[in-house]
Amino acid sequence: MKAVIPAAGRGTRFLPATKAQPKEMLPLIDKPVIQFVVEEAVASGIDDILIITGRGKRAIEDHFDKSFELEEILERDGKTDTLKEMRDISDLADIHYIRQREPKGLGNAIYYAKKHVGDEPFVVLLGDDIISSDVPCTKQLMDYYEKYKAPIIAVNKVEKEMIESYGVVDGELVEDLVYKVKDLVEKPKPEDAPSNLGITGRYLLTPDIFDAIDKTEPGKGGEIQLTDALRILSQKRDMYAYDFEGVRYDLGNKADYIKATIEYALRREEFSSWMKDYLKTLMK
Ligand code: G1P
Repeated sequence: MKAVIPAAGRGTRFLPATKAQPKEMLPLIDKPVIQFVVEEAVASGIDDILIITGRGKRAIEDHFDKSFELEEILERDGKTDTLKEMRDISDLADIHYIRQREPKGLGNAIYYAKKHVGDEPFVVLLGDDIISSDVPCTKQLMDYYEKYKAPIIAVNKVEKEMIESYGVVDGELVEDLVYKVKDLVEKPKPEDAPSNLGITGRYLLTPDIFDAIDKTEPGKGGEIQLTDALRILSQKRDMYAYDFEGVRYDLGNKADYIKATIEYALRREEFSSWMKDYLKTLMK
């Protein structure tokens, strides 16, 4: 299966940090967010990834490319561990790029993948969502696809006051954690939300989504929304939502960015013991 990672968004929520660099290149400690996303796809068994970029996103391509100059310096200085780490980044997968020519929304960005994915199902991983889980979230979706052979959207339960930041699924529980989709709505007001199931940035889609995107009129923010295209498609075919196992961080959101930084630091052996003490001291 191929993966598509839309990374064309402007990242205005993170200005000024994103004024001159893509939001997907913001680091969680020492690794750019988009590398976590690519690594999740690779850990799910995917080796062909299309990243949808746009203006000002060149740093993403440079990041996954080989850097001869840097490798030469690391080799000369005998920094073999770092050298290996750098080589591994450029060997992660076959990464292809296409640029979204105008910022016309997530649905429009996905449409750029049409030729690349062809007539096969594919996964979409949003470039600024990272998910911490035992089994990669994308792999969880792929496993359920084997059973349902239909599009599956990752969702999780969202606090009422946050629901307006998400696409929301109205569904009927068909088995533990799996809902059959009845309807979808992009970023509803809390009082209009049909449920508390918010769409997370992972989707397993079938190629008929492209036709649906083609038929989708501009929606929220005047953009072509993927949620609206899924809504059109859900009226024609079965579609599922899966309340995945794992914790999701929307790194376009500052509070989540801070939480993720702390959690990932606590997980790293080199930081965990002194950080726990440090956090305790701060709390006092
Ligand atoms: C996009 C989708 C939304 C989804 C969200 C998940 O919104 O349009 O349906 O719930 O990603 O992160 P964005 O966060 O790009 O505004």
